[in-house]
Amino acid sequence: MTKRKILITSALPYANGPTHLGHMLEYIQTDIWSRFQKLRGHETYYVCADDAHGTPIMLNAQKQGITPEEMVKNVSIERQRDFADFNIEFDNYHSTHSEENRELSALIYKRLDAKGHIKKRTISQLFDPEKNIFLPDRFVTGTCPTCDAQDQNGDSCDACGATYSPTELKDPRSVMSGATPVLKDSEHFFFDLPAFESMLKEWLHSGSLQAEMANKLEEWFADGLQQWDISRDAPYFGFEIPGAPGKYFYVWLDAPIGYMASFKNLCDKKGLDFDAYWGEDSDAELYHFIGKDIIYFHSLFWPAMLDGAQFRKPTNVYAHGFVTVNGAKMSKSKGTFIKARTYLDHLDPEFLRYYFAAKLNSGITDLDLNLEDFAQRVNSDLVGKVVNIASRCAGFISKKFDGKMSENILEPELMSQFKSASDTIAQYYEQREYSRAIREIMALADKANQFIDAQAPWVLIKDEQTQGQAHDVCSAGLNMFKILMTYLKPVLPGMAANVEQFLNTQLTWESAQELLTGHSINKFKALMQRVDMDKVTQMLEESKESLEASNKPKLDPNSPLAKEPISEEIEFNDFAKVDLRVAKIAKAEHVEGAEKLLKLTLDLGGETRQVFAGIKSAYAPEDIEGKLTVMVANLKPRKMRFGMSEGMVLAAGPGGKEIYILNPDEGSEPGMRVM
Ligand code: MSP
Ligand code: ZN
Repeated sequence: MTKRKILITSALPYANGPTHLGHMLEYIQTDIWSRFQKLRGHETYYVCADDAHGTPIMLNAQKQGITPEEMVKNVSIERQRDFADFNIEFDNYHSTHSEENRELSALIYKRLDAKGHIKKRTISQLFDPEKNIFLPDRFVTGTCPTCDAQDQNGDSCDACGATYSPTELKDPRSVMSGATPVLKDSEHFFFDLPAFESMLKEWLHSGSLQAEMANKLEEWFADGLQQWDISRDAPYFGFEIPGAPGKYFYVWLDAPIGYMASFKNLCDKKGLDFDAYWGEDSDAELYHFIGKDIIYFHSLFWPAMLDGAQFRKPTNVYAHGFVTVNGAKMSKSKGTFIKARTYLDHLDPEFLRYYFAAKLNSGITDLDLNLEDFAQRVNSDLVGKVVNIASRCAGFISKKFDGKMSENILEPELMSQFKSASDTIAQYYEQREYSRAIREIMALADKANQFIDAQAPWVLIKDEQTQGQAHDVCSAGLNMFKILMTYLKPVLPGMAANVEQFLNTQLTWESAQELLTGHSINKFKALMQRVDMDKVTQMLEESKESLEASNKPKLDPNSPLAKEPISEEIEFNDFAKVDLRVAKIAKAEHVEGAEKLLKLTLDLGGETRQVFAGIKSAYAPEDIEGKLTVMVANLKPRKMRFGMSEGMVLAAGPGGKEIYILNPDEGSEPGMRVM
């Protein structure tokens, strides 16, 4: 077998929120493939990174009151812990917010520009005049132009399914500030995708793309390729475009370049040859594993960018479907939006690796995580079939034969079936038909158990005459178990490591062809527990709770907080702009013709202010004259029907009789600043 050079990637997860079981499908699928290639002895690298850039990440960090760099770092630590605990074995995990990525993005951009593939033109976009930021589609809501449903997204209507441009929305509002967006012109940079049409068509037909992907590409070609907007205006968390101050690369431009950047980072650490993998005449294989939602980026933009910038194109792009839980889209309210960490707190990661493997094929149909089926499948296949073989054989070898396997090989016919399954199973793994590989392996496990049942070593062992036979049978059983675990090693690396310890041998793909004879083994320890349905239920409960806790604490619906939730977080500087002062209510008077207002003369200890306050329903003038209160002293004066109002007194309560003006504590004096 010739040794292949293989570089594998998974999509780079947004550094914006926790890993969930939907994500895990992708990283598990890729990890199995990568481990398989390594087990076969190929030079294989599996790299990934955080996708750090973009508006949502910038705003999320703002909300948390930290810099995007800090947020990305925090998320990355948790993310990598999740991956490690699911036994995902990356050769490198990097970030798109890295020097390597900055340099490679600039390089690719410059090469594309030099060849005339970057176009510039001015476009008009919705702009939030309060936040001073251009609004991505999903940051605009409004009334659907087709069906008049309110509160619809900027690009599509959930009520009638219409799609439109955010400029067509009626009564558009900025999600960020509630302000009415205005149209604003700005120069944008475009990548000239249509120039690559013939190259892409050739790529489509020369490769071995998934049928579903090839069909989509054909559709997109039929619709006509469009130029791709690759720039965003400041403020933006990303890389500034070389030679274009205030313009940033759109996150999806530098995200796939992050694959290269992560590998570059690995090359620098390990002394590998970057060009051997990415150069135009590289003979290495390059595979991207992705979800079906991001096919467009990976099958059109990405190969075109690589081609235009004189890099090699991917050997293939493998898309998978989406995870559903119990037959429905993962739902926060049902508790089926399960975070990787919540799963890990209750269940063994190898259960999920096995279940996904047992259901995965090379297509892009969705995969249902049915939790009953999950428990049943893991228990009957792994515990009931595979582990059972070892637990039935190991005890006798340890206790009766001093931990030493027999010199005889029994059942050469059956044993050769186990060995010769190697090629078929390898082929299934290679083609990402994991479910078929698993079916093949489980059929062998059934045969091993039937063999042990028929031989009944527990009977043979009782008679001095047949003890030797029992030794042979159990040794044969353990050899079968060893071969099965070799085939399962890409799926169950944790269990395989324990088996290597127990069998006192290394499981490599070739070793499936060699049988252990006269070999000493270690004591057998339980290799896997059964899935406990109670744990599954607890996991779902906790998923619900963790969500409620993170989103909304349980509130009495009549409480003030429930009626009026706390406003968006502000910077300290924003608060500091509000000049609050202790003021003495020097005079309070009725205003002729005013139903709700009292006219207050507020003494700031040197200056006085006249303020009209809507407190008449709750206070008589004589009740408050002479009291201290707190006022906004630097509020722009406002002309009211009855005269100028030069500030505001602070009061709480819903209105009517329930209005309560604030009283500063004793000792404070008019004019003191409130901070
Ligand atoms: N940052 C982009 C990818 C950039 S690649 C250069 C992104 N990130 S993501 O965090 O939203 O998703 C990461 C991967 O997880 C994607 O391949 C996506 O398809 C996959 N999945 C996210 N939710 C999923 C399910 N519910 N089920 C299966 N895969 C899912 O997209
Ligand atoms: Zn509609």
